[in-house]
Amino acid sequence: MRIGELETPVYVYDLAEIERSHALLLGWLPQPSTLLYSVKANPHPAVVAALAAAGCGAEICSSGELLTALEAGVEPARLFYTGPGRRDSDLEVALRAGVRRFSTDSPTALDQLERLCGMYGVDATCLLRVNDSSAPGHALAMVGEPSQFGADLRWILDEPQAFADRDRVKVRGLHLFMGSNVSDEAALTAQFARSIETAACLRAAGVDLRLLNLGGGFSAPFAREGSLPRYEQVAGRLDGLLTEAFPDWQSGDPEIAFESGRYLVAGAGRLVTRVLDVKRSFGRQVVVLESGVNHLGGMSGLRRLPAIAPTLMHENTASKERLETMVTGPLCTPLDRWSTRALLPALAVGDEVVIPNVGAYGLSASLVAFLGHPLPGEAVVRGEEVLETSRLRLQRHRD
Ligand SMILES: Cc1ncc(COP(=O)(O)O)c(C=O)c1O
Repeated sequence: MRIGELETPVYVYDLAEIERSHALLLGWLPQPSTLLYSVKANPHPAVVAALAAAGCGAEICSSGELLTALEAGVEPARLFYTGPGRRDSDLEVALRAGVRRFSTDSPTALDQLERLCGMYGVDATCLLRVNDSSAPGHALAMVGEPSQFGADLRWILDEPQAFADRDRVKVRGLHLFMGSNVSDEAALTAQFARSIETAACLRAAGVDLRLLNLGGGFSAPFAREGSLPRYEQVAGRLDGLLTEAFPDWQSGDPEIAFESGRYLVAGAGRLVTRVLDVKRSFGRQVVVLESGVNHLGGMSGLRRLPAIAPTLMHENTASKERLETMVTGPLCTPLDRWSTRALLPALAVGDEVVIPNVGAYGLSASLVAFLGHPLPGEAVVRGEEVLETSRLRLQRHRD
C-alpha cells in the first residue's frame, strides 16, 4: 500500500524521522549519558520499539505504558516508573513484570513501595523527585510552586529521615524534571545548571547519589510547520558543570540520565484528514474537517499545550489567494475549533489536509471518547513505504 492510498483520517508516523531526531538529541547531550523515551508522548508500539532499538530505555507512568514498553521489547531493567500517585495494583503489575527502578514523590510513596516489595519479596531502587525552583522559560513548568510532582527541596533537607532507605527500597539518586518544551537554549541550560547544583547539595546532605536523572525539556514544534530547535551549547556547558560538581561522573559516579518525549517523536508524525464541508459564515470561510479535538488537541483545549495553529497543506487548489478561515472539527460543540482566523486558500469538500509535527501528544492526548466518532487510523511508515496500519478502538467491558 502507498501512503496516498491510506484511508483518512490517519496519523502517519515515520520511523526514519524518529531515528533522525534521536541521533540529533544524542548530539546535544553530554556523554556518557543515558536517554529514556517518555512513552506518554506517543505510546504507539512501533514508535516505542523504534526508540528501544535505537538504545533508549523508557520512562513510564502507568500499567498501560508499562505493557506497551514491554511489548515493544524494552527490558524491565531499562524501565523507569514515574508519576505522583499510584494504586497498589499498578505497582504490583510493575513489580511482577520486573520493574525495579522508580521515581518517588513523597515519603508515603516510599512506604507504599516498601510494603509491596515486602509482599513480593523483592528489592527496588528509588530516585527522589525534587520540587526545586524552576528556571524561567518553561512552556509548561511543573515545579517551583505547590505541585503534586516531587518533594520540596527544603522538606528533603529538613527531614532527611523521612526520605531515607527503607529495608527493601533504597534511595539511590535524584529525578529532577523541571518542565517541558523549553525552546530557549539559555533557559534550558540554566535549568540543568540549577538541577546539578541541587543534586550536589543533596549529595552533600547525605543522599546516596548513584543515578542523576536531569529530566529534559527539549522542545519541538506542535501542529505547525517548523523544525526541531538546536541545542548546540548544552553538552559543552553541562560537561563543565558536571565535572565541577562530580569529578568522577564520566566514570559513572553518578550515572547521568535524561528523558525526552516530544523531541524524539513530534516531527515524525502527521495527521492527514479531509474537508467535510465548506461554507461562509459572517464573512469568513468555515472549513469543517473529519478531525477535531477528538483526534488532535484535547490537551490544547485544556490549555496544557500551545493553542493549535495547524498548517493545512492542500492538494486540490492552485489559487494563491488566502482567506480568513475558521477551521473546525465535526464535533457538536463550539470548543471544537483548531483555528478561528487561519489564512488559507479556498478549500473544497474532499480536499486532503495535513497537520505536521503531531507525532507527540497527538492522538493519545486528545478527547478520543467525546461524541463517539471513530478514531483515526495509525500508519507506521519508513519514508514512502507503509509498514503497518492499525486502529485504536474504545470498547466498554462490563465488570
Ligand atoms: C516526568 C516527565 N518526564 C518526561 C516528560 C516528557 O516531556 P517532553 O515530552 O516535553 O519531553 C514529562 C512530560 O510531562 C514528564 O512529566
